[in-house]
Amino acid sequence: MTILVTGGAGFIGANFVLHQRQVKDGIILNLDKLTYAGHLSTLASLTEDPKHIFVQGDIGDRILLSQLLEQHRPQAILNFAAETHVDRSIEGPDPFIQTNILGTFNLLEAVRAYWQSLSSLEQDQFRFASLNR
Ligand SMILES: NC(=O)c1ccc[n+]([C@@H]2O[C@H](COP(=O)([O-])OP(=O)(O)OC[C@H]3O[C@@H](n4cnc5c(N)ncnc54)[C@H](O)[C@@H]3O)[C@@H](O)[C@H]2O)c1
Repeated sequence: MTILVTGGAGFIGANFVLHQRQVKDGIILNLDKLTYAGHLSTLASLTEDPKHIFVQGDIGDRILLSQLLEQHRPQAILNFAAETHVDRSIEGPDPFIQTNILGTFNLLEAVRAYWQSLSSLEQDQFRFASLNR
């Protein structure tokens, strides 16, 4: 099984990825923009792990998302990618709109197109979850 994790270098996402690699044998495709909140050092133990594929990129990048979905064909997606440091939104709200609203919408649209390409059995088994509140 392949899972696409977005924001998988952040606080919750990285811990989910580390836990998942301990308890499951599937492949983790980890897409993270590596903003100030993303730290690859948290995932250092997975550097040589062939079942952890890290891609630096933005959930707002529809072409990249479509390519990754087509190439890796995940059965589940967990979205942890977000601007979460709310105090920063006072100085600069733009990244919050770009990622939390437009990026999430873009991710949903790319996943919807991918889901529509699946067989009915694959569609039934496919799962999407987002921690965005
Ligand atoms: N931390 C908590 O206590 C908590 C509780 C409930 C829900 N949540 C939700 O869980 C999610 C993750 O929270 P967290 O604490 O791990 O956040 P975090 O700020 O630690 O991590 C967010 C990650 O998303 C990445 N990212 C940001 N913009 C991106 C983009 N455009 N494309 C790809 N990656 C991008 C960052 O580089 C970072 O690695 C958020 O939606 C948050 O609201 C968090």
